[in-house]
Amino acid sequence: MHRRFRLALAIVALPALASCATTPPAPMTQHQQEPAAPPADPAPEHVLALSAEEAALTPEQVLGKRLFEDENLSEPHGQSCKSCHDPLKAFTGDAGSTVAGVAAGAVPGVVGNRNVPTAMYLATSPSFSFVGEPNDTGGIDYTPTGGFFWDGRAASLSEQAKGPFLNPREMNNPSQAAVITKVRNATYASLFRRVYGDRALDDVGKAYDKLAQAIAAFEGSPLFSPFSSKFDDYLRGKASLTAQEAKGFALFKNPDKGNCMGCHAGDPKSRKPQDWLFTDFTYDNLGVPRNQAIPDNQDPAHFDPGLAGQAGLAAKLPAGVDPARLVGAFKVPTLRNIQKTGPYMHNGKFAQLRDVVKFYVTRDTNAGLWYPKDATGKVIKFNDLPTAAKANVNTEEVPYDRKAGEKPRLNDDEIDAVVAFLNTLTDR
Ligand code: HEC
Ligand code: HEC
Repeated sequence: MHRRFRLALAIVALPALASCATTPPAPMTQHQQEPAAPPADPAPEHVLALSAEEAALTPEQVLGKRLFEDENLSEPHGQSCKSCHDPLKAFTGDAGSTVAGVAAGAVPGVVGNRNVPTAMYLATSPSFSFVGEPNDTGGIDYTPTGGFFWDGRAASLSEQAKGPFLNPREMNNPSQAAVITKVRNATYASLFRRVYGDRALDDVGKAYDKLAQAIAAFEGSPLFSPFSSKFDDYLRGKASLTAQEAKGFALFKNPDKGNCMGCHAGDPKSRKPQDWLFTDFTYDNLGVPRNQAIPDNQDPAHFDPGLAGQAGLAAKLPAGVDPARLVGAFKVPTLRNIQKTGPYMHNGKFAQLRDVVKFYVTRDTNAGLWYPKDATGKVIKFNDLPTAAKANVNTEEVPYDRKAGEKPRLNDDEIDAVVAFLNTLTDR
């Protein structure tokens, strides 16, 4: 792990450690679903309605799937989770948006302000915390880790699932009660009661919790973590990489070349696909160029604060950690299925995967490729950050540790090889 330059916030003074004892970091436990109580015998109509892929799911997961795919659960109706998280696109999508990089909401003309991430391979993601590690100077480095959304604000998949139904830029329901009323009238209402009990839809708050739990159970199913890519078969010894893919994998791992593993982590000693999620769940600030197409960005004073804007962050900050350092940091996403999940980055700035890799290695050697120029012809680097936050951009870690005019860490052939390797991460 190349944590040295990472978004780790060094606390040198030991008293900070003591004062932190009162706010212990959230445990690094795996995200856990409450075990479902599977009904003894599901109603025949639900058995009949199962597709082949659903036959392998628990009744709770089938319920989650019904909820995930129900286009009646938006206001106006017509949008489901699936509209933005389509299994054919590795659970990404844009709901038919005409704005590059952000999805359309249920309300005509409304769009989001962040790119849709994949909902895959999240079931073992930890909840958000500042993970402390002793540093060389006797203090502690705190690395923000885990959580759901680009800024980690949801503690679990079920907490996450409560958001979109009520988000005015997404499914736009006015209240939990409005959502539950629709569920009560849905064809799968009987399945809901079967899974969670006869009275499960009576109380709005409790029903809403269960609805989120069912969706999280579905997201924890093998449909979201099939581990069926060429790379997985390579790990299992059942497929071999082409020469170009193998070269790309070597560059991906090499700490002096791509160094991608520094954040998009896997366990080099393991041949278990589960040990290769291609994220260490940490955060970093890449200085991604501004996506001018996002309507919010018409206002030049508007910036996405990323992790620094996480609701409730203040209460989680270890003593001495300056939240201003977190402006512009976003969660490291998995690279599994990356070929299918474009556009890329939190703001959807890049349509092409190759551009992402090229950006990494030429951001500093040839910034003019990526950022606009001011009136005097000077390149405005890191133009999606307020001036004070530009210093937060990671400029020390390979591959973006170069200076203007220096040789990029990867040449064109090497970029192609890394992309070829990334294309082996697509589930089949
Ligand atoms: C209109 C498009 C849209 C709809 C509808 C939508 N999402 Fe999302 N989803 C997004 C966007 C955009 C984000 C990232 C938002 C952010 O980080 O602030 C996201 C984030 C997520 C994440 C977090 C991924 C991660 O890496 O942490 C999950 C899981 C998810 N959505 C599941 C769902 C579920 C479940 C539903 C239905 C209840 C749903 N989404 C409905 C657009 C959508
Ligand atoms: C120091 C940490 C770090 C390193 C090293 C790193 N990445 Fe990333 N990567 C991130 C973060 C953080 C993001 C999300 C940034 C954002 O959206 O602002 C990201 C995003 C991406 C994305 C877009 C993912 C998506 O779903 O939109 C791709 C592709 C990617 N990285 C590939 C690579 C490759 C290839 C390398 C090596 C050449 C690499 N990364 C090295 C942290 C890192």
